[in-house]
Amino acid sequence: MYKCKNLGVVVGPGDDAGVFRYKDTLMVETVDIITPIVDDPYTFGAICAANSVSDVFAMGGKPLTALAILGFATCDFGPEVIKRLLKGAVDKLHEAGACLIGGHSIEDNEFKFGFAVSGVVERKNLLKAGGAKPGDILVLTKALGTGILTSAIKKGKAEKTLLKEVIDSMLLLNKTASKAAVSAGARAATDVTGFGLLGHALNMAKGSKINLVIHSNKVPLMSKVKELAAAGAVPKGAVKNLEFCSRNTIFSEAVNEGGKLALSDPQTSGGLLIALPSKGLNKFDSAMKKGRLTYRVIGEVVKGTGKLSIK
Ligand code: CO
Ligand code: CO
Repeated sequence: MYKCKNLGVVVGPGDDAGVFRYKDTLMVETVDIITPIVDDPYTFGAICAANSVSDVFAMGGKPLTALAILGFATCDFGPEVIKRLLKGAVDKLHEAGACLIGGHSIEDNEFKFGFAVSGVVERKNLLKAGGAKPGDILVLTKALGTGILTSAIKKGKAEKTLLKEVIDSMLLLNKTASKAAVSAGARAATDVTGFGLLGHALNMAKGSKINLVIHSNKVPLMSKVKELAAAGAVPKGAVKNLEFCSRNTIFSEAVNEGGKLALSDPQTSGGLLIALPSKGLNKFDSAMKKGRLTYRVIGEVVKGTGKLSIK
């Protein structure tokens, strides 16, 4: 692991965001860029913002400022599209408590958009991916399926009406879930993004030097995800994630190929995976209910060496 001496690095590469001590303040720093997954520029801008600030929430922090990074072909996209894109982003950043304070754009044949986000975190609230303890319970705050559904809809393999559920989920900030986790005394957290639930759970298991047991029938999936995954209608990323995670994952016989792929689906602006001492569940539950948010208990933490057991 990369080590940086004498510079106040509290969390280095390998977690959702870097954490850096400046005087008495812990700064949280992260960057994320994605390619379009929806047609409407305003909606895509807002999803990009929600996705980029998520890593700060996953650390138990508060995002404060954002710098936009935009790549697009000026001959294909006029100023009106870019204006809508930025408006969507700025509105979502404000909801998150952050300000857009600048950015950079570059000519690029493939459209790309994202943010470098800076925030702060209180030492007592810091949630690393490592830190889960045997006996903790695992909660997940959003259903899986953004990768499978957006790619299936694009290929005409699923009805467009399914898109609303996906978009609403991607637009939902992890702000309230993060606060709920902190208030409930969570020991570890990470957001489920490109490596899928399995990939991010494995990172938590390795970082915490424990094993995670996940009950696949308790993992929330968006509508039609189970059927699409069973039919093999999944993005390449899901197959790659599953291949990568298989080495350190024991699947029980009850979990079929479709189930494994659904758990490996790459997410955009996915939910938080949180390791919570069981005595914190009541507090977590009431904080989530107050924010009118749902979550599921999907498993537990057991002694181990950084592996997953999927039942
Ligand atoms: Co992350
Ligand atoms: Co990230």
